[in-house]
Amino acid sequence: MRAVAVTEFGGPDALHVVDLPEEHAGPGEVRVRVTAFAVSPTDTNLRSGFYVERDPVGVPPYVPGMDAAGVLVEVGEGVETDLAVGDHVMAVVVPGGAHGAYREDLVLPARSVVRVPAGVDDVAASTLPMNGLTARLVLDELALRPGQVLAVTGAAGAFGGYVVQLAKADGLTVVADAGPGDEELVRSLGADVVVPRGDEVAAAVRAAFPAGVDGLADGSVQDGAVLAAVKDGGVVGTVRGYTGDGRRGLRVVPVMVRDYAEEREKLDALRVAVEEGVLTLRVAGTVPAEQAAEAHRRLEAGGVRGRLVVTF
Ligand SMILES: NC(=O)c1ccc[n+]([C@@H]2O[C@H](COP(=O)([O-])OP(=O)(O)OC[C@H]3O[C@@H](n4cnc5c(N)ncnc54)[C@H](OP(=O)(O)O)[C@@H]3O)[C@@H](O)[C@H]2O)c1
Repeated sequence: MRAVAVTEFGGPDALHVVDLPEEHAGPGEVRVRVTAFAVSPTDTNLRSGFYVERDPVGVPPYVPGMDAAGVLVEVGEGVETDLAVGDHVMAVVVPGGAHGAYREDLVLPARSVVRVPAGVDDVAASTLPMNGLTARLVLDELALRPGQVLAVTGAAGAFGGYVVQLAKADGLTVVADAGPGDEELVRSLGADVVVPRGDEVAAAVRAAFPAGVDGLADGSVQDGAVLAAVKDGGVVGTVRGYTGDGRRGLRVVPVMVRDYAEEREKLDALRVAVEEGVLTLRVAGTVPAEQAAEAHRRLEAGGVRGRLVVTF
């Protein structure tokens, strides 16, 4: 079975198609014939070797990828599921060694897999699990009450866009950043107030909410540069490990989506959110597996809106 893998870390051209043996679903697992996987910033990091120290991996090939969609082909022993072989499903994947989402034949915990939203194809469905769950996780950690104010940076991105939409559904007031070309997009996601993105984003949020916001989700990974937007004692969700500067009683919470990788009910709630029109799936384009390097190049160049998806 084909996989898009790295044998030596490097630039986009380090990705190539390899042949891997089929695997069967063990107890508590299911097996998916992947037709589409989404390309995220964490994949380009894995490809370049950025995670080697944090997650030492043994023997190549290394297969990146945290989002997959396709067809359920096998259900392992002891799995109680509403799914049947032949169903179209989507999954969040915690990559390790040769087990990432960039493979045609993918065995993973049954609790990481749900059906795709009704009326949605595998390509669009593959853009939801990882960033949708991260958005849910951040909002759960921030634990704001309806009516409180949340700021979102990187709001035009995959993670930030889902945060804006889920926060609105949770009853929060949302102030979000946007570059000039993204203002309409970010407003259409539901942001109540849109401020210019960039180094001055905290001051812009303060100008709109002089007392400071109750919470902030930092999708643009600006770390210390965004803290001034938040009121004393407020809360900040970060996505690349930033833990704050210890000042003004801010609670800075770094989240890791792997903590929600087997939260099946939460993944299924995201499916329902798409079906109810709460979440919008955005596909920037698709390329076949043989051209996965092109998707990495485009993502690293910046400015992609919606997710790039690779198909088998
Ligand atoms: N911890 C976890 O479990 C977890 C899970 C999911 C995502 N993440 C991380 O979350 C981050 C966002 O992911 P994503 O998939 O949403 O990425 P994305 O789709 O590329 O979105 C990031 C957004 O932030 C903007 N941006 C980048 N640098 C900026 C800056 N200095 N000022 C203002 N805006 C800036 C980008 O604009 P341009 O495209 O114009 O640069 C883009 O709109 C990534 O670092 C990703 O690795 C972490």
